[in-house]
Amino acid sequence: MQKEKLEKIFSIPVIFQDNLAIINETSSFYNQEQTNASFSEKWIKVNEETSTFALEEFQKKWVLELYGFKTINGFKEFLKDKYVIIDAGCGLGYKSAWLAELAPHAVVFGIDFSEAAYVAAKRYKEIKNLYFFVGDIANLPFKENTLDFILCDQVIHHTENPKKTYEHLSSLLNEYGKFACYVYAKKALPRELVDDYFRLATHNFTHEQMWEFSDQLTELGKNLTELNVKFNCPDIPALGIKGGEYDIQRFIYWNFIKCFYNPQWTKKENDSCNFDWYSPSNAQRYSEEEYREWAISLGLSIDFFRSEEACHTSIVSK
Ligand SMILES: C[S@@+](CC[C@H](N)C(=O)[O-])C[C@H]1O[C@@H](n2cnc3c(N)ncnc32)[C@H](O)[C@@H]1O
Repeated sequence: MQKEKLEKIFSIPVIFQDNLAIINETSSFYNQEQTNASFSEKWIKVNEETSTFALEEFQKKWVLELYGFKTINGFKEFLKDKYVIIDAGCGLGYKSAWLAELAPHAVVFGIDFSEAAYVAAKRYKEIKNLYFFVGDIANLPFKENTLDFILCDQVIHHTENPKKTYEHLSSLLNEYGKFACYVYAKKALPRELVDDYFRLATHNFTHEQMWEFSDQLTELGKNLTELNVKFNCPDIPALGIKGGEYDIQRFIYWNFIKCFYNPQWTKKENDSCNFDWYSPSNAQRYSEEEYREWAISLGLSIDFFRSEEACHTSIVSK
């Protein structure tokens, strides 16, 4: 798409420097600023210190499952008539690049409030239909009714007021537009309490202390995984603990503390997954009913919905 046409999508004047649009956005909310700083730290370190190949492949496969596309061809088919696409909260931009590759007829914008947007712009500067900018997905400079597809994957719960962000993003959809969004699910009571406690307690950690804490969580996850022990747990409804057969690491992970470990990922990828759980101040969790209510209260049609232990995902339209 030509630059002049691109500019028409925006509600304010936007200057493009190659594949980077300059918006000059900052937040006046302390928690959002802290969340941005935390993700700047995470993504810059991950980008410098590791190849993110395994993480990216895992995440892309997960997108196909989470939103019901099932296969890459299913996703391509879905994107066939989507011309203006945003990856809202793009991090290092690999999903934005994937969207641009699967929908070469479209223009794709990757947007992030952290410095990851600059890293992403550098990483993918050769992709012609892909642009990045630093911006707040709760207040995007697009005209209403302009977007064909919004992917907001693992982001909205990090914004200052997730429900308001949801309302804002859906207002940008055009009449055929689709909005795919992921929110963190509420977990068992002990895990929720520990999460709330540590998210507050780690506020005063330096980034070094936070990485050290994440390294300890990875080691815990690894040691528990390597025990390779399974056992049966009864239903304990008062604590929100679901009964059944568990691997010991998964039992502790889902019910008590996030100690992520995936043996296929590098050490830094595992650490970064633990880092981004306790580090950002903004990280809300929702029940299925609470999340469904967002769409219902806005009169949106729920075209797809899925719940799993980690998250709820949906695709909605006007
Ligand atoms: C867990 S990461 C997910 C990144 C990417 N969507 C992915 O799936 O790999 C969450 C991202 O949301 C970004 N973020 C948080 N609040 C934001 C906001 N208000 N506006 C834009 N991006 C935001 C963070 O900077 C971070 O890169």
